[in-house]
Amino acid sequence: MRVGVLTAFAAGAIGAAVLAVSSPVVAQTPASAIGETIFNARCKSCHEPAMDRAPSRVALSAYGAAQIVQAMTNGVMSPMAQGLSQSDKDAVAAYLTTAQVGPDAHPAPGAARPIPAAARGVDVMCATNPPIHETPTDWRSVGLDANSSRYQPNPGLKAADVSKLQVKWSFAMSGGSMPTVIGDWLFITNRSGKFYALDAKTGCVQWVLEGVGARTTPAIVKSSISPSGWATFIGERTRTVRAFDAQSGKEIWKSAQIETNPVAGITGTAVVSGDQLFVPLTSGEEPAARQPNYPCCSFRGSLVALDLATGKTQWKTFVVTEPLHPTHKNSAGTMMQGPAGGAIWSAPTADLKRGLVYVATGDSYTDEPTTGADAIVAIEMKTGKIRWSTQVTEKDNFIMGCEDKLPNCPTPVGPDYDFGASPILFSLANGKQIVLAGQKSGIAYGMDPDTGKLIWKTAVGSGSALGGIEWGMATDRKRLFVAISDVINLFDEVPGLPPVTADKLAPGKPGLYGLDPATGKVLWSTPAPKAPCHYAGDRSRDYAKGACIRAQSAAPSAMPGAVFSGTVDGWFRAYDPASGKIIWSFSTTAQTYNTVNQVKAQPGGSIDGMGPAIAGGMVYTMSGFQGAANTGGNAVNVLLAFSVDGK
Ligand code: HEC
Repeated sequence: MRVGVLTAFAAGAIGAAVLAVSSPVVAQTPASAIGETIFNARCKSCHEPAMDRAPSRVALSAYGAAQIVQAMTNGVMSPMAQGLSQSDKDAVAAYLTTAQVGPDAHPAPGAARPIPAAARGVDVMCATNPPIHETPTDWRSVGLDANSSRYQPNPGLKAADVSKLQVKWSFAMSGGSMPTVIGDWLFITNRSGKFYALDAKTGCVQWVLEGVGARTTPAIVKSSISPSGWATFIGERTRTVRAFDAQSGKEIWKSAQIETNPVAGITGTAVVSGDQLFVPLTSGEEPAARQPNYPCCSFRGSLVALDLATGKTQWKTFVVTEPLHPTHKNSAGTMMQGPAGGAIWSAPTADLKRGLVYVATGDSYTDEPTTGADAIVAIEMKTGKIRWSTQVTEKDNFIMGCEDKLPNCPTPVGPDYDFGASPILFSLANGKQIVLAGQKSGIAYGMDPDTGKLIWKTAVGSGSALGGIEWGMATDRKRLFVAISDVINLFDEVPGLPPVTADKLAPGKPGLYGLDPATGKVLWSTPAPKAPCHYAGDRSRDYAKGACIRAQSAAPSAMPGAVFSGTVDGWFRAYDPASGKIIWSFSTTAQTYNTVNQVKAQPGGSIDGMGPAIAGGMVYTMSGFQGAANTGGNAVNVLLAFSVDGK
């Protein structure tokens, strides 16, 4: 998040067919001019400059036009697009996706830079299509296993080799998910609507599907429903789940929409257990509720069980169980409703022994009481019945924009302490098990898997609306590894960022922490270093060049002798799991990358989101995530594949 060009694996060496997909440069058309007018009137206030977790206008230019229209028609932006005609929506999409494509000139300070056509890349197809073979070193789901351990026991590289990791290949894409790996195959989705199967060792393309509105980590499952014996599943923002043959990319089934509320979506990876697929639902109602005429709020987080063979819904369980009812008129005369909230944005965790699925829920959106928000909820696999639900923060009532005292804001406004990390089911040395959970408050918890009773809680970080503990935690067989973001608490460290003193946040404690899973005792702590940083490619913010923040927000991943964890300022590091000592550091932004998909000098950016995968002697991470912190993104980002000595 500086200079020197790294020669990644040369695409030409693959000797493959080339599938050109880059968009032509398109001059401003009347449609896009109309689109610009509508965008400026209806969308710009949140998207340029981007606020909260909204993608910047430039980031939106990497989306498919169909996805943008879809978001306005029956997706998360439909409340914002109310009253727009089909041709209005097409015009907005035309403006966003074409008008900005042009030479990548140096912009005036504060101006958004367009994504150059060349930065969209060329998909270089692999020459051969080897069968998928499982190996002991695969990483096939976001948490690696059903317990969400994020621990790779057979990494295919030794701890002593970690210090020799170098980039073997890189691949430019817009907002990629965490990759999954099986044998020589790697699977990844991204925000421009592409779902890729890549060669894990070289980055050439085995197959690519376009127009897939998913950003979930693809889960890879051995299953007879797939002709090749391997199926992959993704959840779309449009509330459908799709199953594909992992070898061919052919669709096996597409579920019906599993939720009617248009602001709902799927961001957490679906988890497979036996012949069931468990899908979590999250929402974009927090931004929608900013609008005074929006009847805030009605979304309720839920878990849906699908039949793995057909995609048919078996049951659906809402975590907010109190009935929805009208409450009062807001100052703009709109009837409010509630309770609402409890979005599940992370992957569920399966407990085969108890027949339970654990989910972690987000905040409440209204001031109507609910016990389903900021909770860990255990749901019976067979029936969908809630076995237990343990709320850790009451009355955490929050929507976006309440610093401006909007008419829909709850009273009082809560701190926005969602659970965004998957719960982890951990087996202790004494044979007992414990559910480990981490919250944006910076607090980690241990709970009894049978009853949900709190066993311990430890304040590790200071906490903020963007973590605390944001995306995930990892374990090995002895310890719990907690990455602390505290990103908002750190704004004061960064020249040019708006001051946050008004938020009265405690000083940030970003870093990686090792905890005893039995007691929550902190065994070691390693603060995130203050390290040199410069986002070479940031096009999203006028203060971009200075906005490097050492928040440790991404989910970590572990192997014997090393824990990998990235920071929002673009550093990727490995830690000794016993002492917390940093054993390897790599700045993903100190150089640019000539990518396998033929993008020259692609910059990296912040590391955030679902974190690295370790498989087959290699370590994979996305660099450049224009995530919730909205810093260090390039709109086009890069998947980095590391191997020992880059071989
Ligand atoms: C009140 C603020 C606000 C307004 C107004 C707004 N947006 Fe958004 N938009 C957001 C936020 C916040 C997100 C991120 C939502 C999320 O990820 O939950 C978003 C996401 C999106 C996305 C990505 C959706 C996806 O599936 O990933 C698109 C496309 C989009 N907005 C387009 C628009 C358009 C077009 C308009 C105008 C018609 C608009 N937005 C108006 C705040 C806003």
